[in-house]
Amino acid sequence: MDKFKIVGGTPLSGEMPVSGSKNSSLPALAACLLTDEPVTLHRVPRVKDIATMESLLEYAGAKVAHHNGKTCVHARTLDRPEAPYDVVKTMRASSLVLGPLVARAGRARVSMPGGCAIGARPINMHVAALEKLGATIEQAYGYVEAQAPDGLRGGNIHFDRITVTGTEDVLMAAVLAKGETVIGNAAREPEVEDLANLLIAMGANIEGAGTSTIKVQGVEKLHGAEHTIIPDRIEAGTFLLAGAISHGDLIVSDCNPEHVAALVVKMQQAGAEVDQPQADVLRVRCAGRPKALDMKTEEYPGFATDLQAQYLAWMATAHGISFITETIFENRFMHVQELVRMGANIRIEGRQAIVAGEDLLMGAQVIASDLRASASLVLAALVARGQTIIDRVYHIDRGYERIEEKLAAVGANIQRVQQTMRAGADV
Ligand code: EPZ
Repeated sequence: MDKFKIVGGTPLSGEMPVSGSKNSSLPALAACLLTDEPVTLHRVPRVKDIATMESLLEYAGAKVAHHNGKTCVHARTLDRPEAPYDVVKTMRASSLVLGPLVARAGRARVSMPGGCAIGARPINMHVAALEKLGATIEQAYGYVEAQAPDGLRGGNIHFDRITVTGTEDVLMAAVLAKGETVIGNAAREPEVEDLANLLIAMGANIEGAGTSTIKVQGVEKLHGAEHTIIPDRIEAGTFLLAGAISHGDLIVSDCNPEHVAALVVKMQQAGAEVDQPQADVLRVRCAGRPKALDMKTEEYPGFATDLQAQYLAWMATAHGISFITETIFENRFMHVQELVRMGANIRIEGRQAIVAGEDLLMGAQVIASDLRASASLVLAALVARGQTIIDRVYHIDRGYERIEEKLAAVGANIQRVQQTMRAGADV
């Protein structure tokens, strides 16, 4: 297992380009299962979760190839419309293949995801929505088995609460269903809109993606298409916070500033200077510690839960006390105990972290527990005195493309240490 060795104290300066969005690429890859023609995607990041999704497509029968930064998927036939446990257990977004497989193949067998570090994360709303579209679904032996031998039919769906991949899953199913589907209380995340744009390019008839009501008129068949994935807003936000926490002057390029507006407003209120020199560029400057500022995570366009851990690390260095409330997931404070080991002063009360800013964080040995928690530890390490060793960085490799190279290029003292196994060591 690789580790990061980071020596803090260098203000970051220079340019950090943002990669394509992981959370847009995952449904986009799943959408490639909806047609027997090739689909070409640009700007798919080379991160572990994407490789996992590609292995699921191949398992189902698709061919996946990479040429000059493009990802080409050709699902001519789907011989095995299944997602096995071994893959699903490593990535919960595997449930995104449920909708497309049942829509195209008339059946799907997808392992049920278990809980994960950030919460229980059930898929009951995906299942109920697909049943509304006429799928017969049984859950047994750890698998969800969906059948729709005569195809799906349109229906009215209203999600009890907003679900991002649930909206994406049912949207992909609805595009091939007979008749009209209306999805109410749909997720408005930019990744949903990006998926809809790809589906439209493949011949789907969709209105309202990006709003809370999406209308779909089913079509008989989709065709191949070429599509460029949107920039990763969570990576962009992580970089902005890296610039601020390190007291640097950083250019975050190839991003969509609108997608990180909620974070930028908070950062400005807390004392960072963030401006937009170009349409797809943000510059962040922050000479010292921020002012403490409360934050509550919300669905888009609110403050993203995927940036909570990184924002919390910044607030751990603030003047004053901030209240950070997590409303999306029930257990997304695993980074807190590790930050405390670095000298942060944080108390958890239910869904709230009470953060008393400290003027000094100290390097320590810490363990990454999930993708965004690892990013928050990296940020804390950038400003901490001395050396931090972060273990289990495979979590960060799931969603950040070459993060240590990008950080080193703007001055961070960061190294990946490959762990060599001792002879006779327990494995
Ligand atoms: C997506 O997860 C993202 N993943 C997550 O990013 C992100 O944190 C999350 O949306 C919220 O923005 C991908 O896009 C691949 P949800 P998703 O369904 O779709 C509950 C990252 O770090 N719920 O919107 O799985 C659920 O437990 C990841 O990149 C049900 O109860 O999240 C949660 O409390 C982590 N039943 C809430 O809804 C369901 O059937 C919102 O979850 C589905 C969800």
